[in-house]
Amino acid sequence: MFAGALCAARSDIARRDSGQSRTAVSRASCIVEREASLTSHTLLGDAPVPRFTLFVNSETHDIDVPAGTSLLGVLRDDLSLTGTRFGCGHSGCGACYVLVGDAATPSCTIPVEDVVGKEITTIEALAREGELHPVQRAFVDEDAMQCGYCTTGMIISSIALLARTPSPSEDEIRAALAPHLCRCGVYGRVIRAVQRAARLMSNDAAQDTVRLVVR
Ligand code: FES
Ligand code: FES
Repeated sequence: MFAGALCAARSDIARRDSGQSRTAVSRASCIVEREASLTSHTLLGDAPVPRFTLFVNSETHDIDVPAGTSLLGVLRDDLSLTGTRFGCGHSGCGACYVLVGDAATPSCTIPVEDVVGKEITTIEALAREGELHPVQRAFVDEDAMQCGYCTTGMIISSIALLARTPSPSEDEIRAALAPHLCRCGVYGRVIRAVQRAARLMSNDAAQDTVRLVVR
């Protein structure tokens, strides 16, 4: 609440201020305050809290947090999986997306009790044996990031899209990435990265088929 009030106050100041840099500083401050507020559930004292068992990145974790704690808070504060970002806190920016099953999902507004028994995948689990996931590789190859704050969420939604639509049209890519805001404006490069990833993944699938036939 306190962080939210501060952010609202700063937004008012930013609106009255015509300088671009003042606005940018204001937004950056809000993000820092909101990130700090995520830790508040660890400051509630010694009262017993419920235990939830989560399945994250192929591992089981027992987490003691109050019901209603966001999945994002658990990922970042309890499991130290900080690759998933906090942006707006109300499903409006796409920074916090993770895979819940096969679905790209905003983790800032889903309470921990709603994901018990579900498979959760974060950006940290995508690379295997030192090899980037093809979508990560394509983002690097297309230079589809600037500050990188939106990138993990964009990659998660791209993976979910390619799992259900292996060769998406540009319109389908735009629709899948519509929930994601990028302050740096790298949207064009992100679209090219998803198209590149689709080609990479279809080549990998073709090579796997050849290997199976040759065996
Ligand atoms: S932080 Fe979750 S959508 Fe913005
Ligand atoms: S790369 Fe900076 S917000 Fe998207």
